[in-house]
Amino acid sequence: MLGHKVPDGVEVVRAYDPDLPVVDAFPGELNRVWTNLIDNALDAMGDTGVLRVVTRLDEDRVVIEVCDTGPGLSDEVAARAFEAFFTTKDVGRGTGLGLDIARRIVVERHGGEILIHSEPGHTVFEVRIPISHTD
Ligand SMILES: Nc1ncnc2c1ncn2[C@@H]1O[C@H](COP(=O)(O)OP(=O)(O)O)[C@@H](O)[C@H]1O
Ligand SMILES: [Mg+2]
Repeated sequence: MLGHKVPDGVEVVRAYDPDLPVVDAFPGELNRVWTNLIDNALDAMGDTGVLRVVTRLDEDRVVIEVCDTGPGLSDEVAARAFEAFFTTKDVGRGTGLGLDIARRIVVERHGGEILIHSEPGHTVFEVRIPISHTD
């Protein structure tokens, strides 16, 4: 879906665990999460970098990581990144809604978590989805 947005200088690495269990989830909504996280990763890197997508099992959660080699988030930006309408991008480029939407889908719809690990050159958005959840 996002292939046309990936610049030639950005390498895409997929590291998917082939043995993950089936997850009780809303797949269309989760696709929105991956889209928003990958969009941000591509925005952060510009023309060159490595976009890495990892899936793995951690106890009773499936973990999906979207990693980029961009400049990262300062502590101040990371603290506000999930706020609706918070953006550091120019008017017209960022709505500030991508992470708000992603957080709602992960936390409110799936009982999961979304975490940021960031340092310059290495940023990870970690999504943790319970294998089964109760609404
Ligand atoms: N991978 C990333 N690397 C650096 N900063 C990021 C990344 N993802 C999100 N951010 C920061 O979080 C802010 C909020 O992201 P988001 O809610 O998707 O809104 P938008 O992309 O429209 O600005 C971004 O403006 C940016 O400052
Ligand atoms: Mg965004």
